Amino acid sequence: MVSGHLAESQVSAAMPSGGVTTPRKTLLIVYHTMTGGTLQMARAAAHGAGQEQSVEVRLLQAARAGSDDVLDADGLVFATPENLGAMSGLMKDFFDRSYYAALERINGRPYACMVCAGSDGSNAVRQIERIAAGWRLRRVADALIVCTHAQTPQEILRQKRIEPGELERCENLGAAIATGLSFGIY
Ligand SMILES: Cc1cc2nc3c(=O)[nH]c(=O)nc-3n(C[C@H](O)[C@H](O)[C@H](O)COP(=O)(O)O)c2cc1C
Repeated sequence: MVSGHLAESQVSAAMPSGGVTTPRKTLLIVYHTMTGGTLQMARAAAHGAGQEQSVEVRLLQAARAGSDDVLDADGLVFATPENLGAMSGLMKDFFDRSYYAALERINGRPYACMVCAGSDGSNAVRQIERIAAGWRLRRVADALIVCTHAQTPQEILRQKRIEPGELERCENLGAAIATGLSFGIY
C-alpha cells in the first residue's frame, strides 16, 4: 500500500496477515536532486517498492539522511544526479557523514543505484559502486541510468520531466528489491 507524500516519507507499512506478524523489512531510498529528475526516479522506485505490503519504504533526501538511517535499513537504493562527472556533492556528503559509522555493520545488505544524467552517468555509478563495495553491500540490480539529453545550459538548468518508460524502469527496480526483501532472498 502506498500512502502519504512521496517527497520524504514512510511510503508503506507492513500489515500483519492472518494474525501472523512477520518481521517488517525496511527499504531506504536516499536521493539528491537539483532539477527534479532524480526525485521523480526515486519516487517511482518508492512507489514500486511500496506495492510490497511487508516492506516499509523510506524516501529521504541525502542532506537529511545519516548513518542511523543506513543502519536501520534492510536494503538501500542510492539515487543521484551526475554532476561534473561525479555523484552530486550532497550525495557525497551523505556518504562522507555515514561511511565509517556504518562500516562493518551492514555487510551483505542488498542495494541498487540510480543515476539521472544529461548524457553519461557512468562515473557517478562507479563512485557509488566503489563506496558500496567498501561497505560490503551486495548489488542486487544493475545500475539504472536515465539520461535527460539536456545539452545547453538553459536545458540543463530547467526542471526535468522523466519519461514514463524510464519511470517504469525505476518503479520495477524498487519493486524487485522490495520483493527480494519480502521473500528474504537476500
Ligand atoms: C553543474 C552540472 C554538471 C553536470 N555534469 C554532468 C555530467 O558530468 N554528466 C552528465 O551526464 N550530466 C551532467 N549534468 C546534467 C545532469 O546530470 C542532469 O541535468 C540531470 O537531470 C540532473 O539530475 P536532477 O534533475 O535530479 O538534478 C550536469 C548538470 C549540472 C547542473
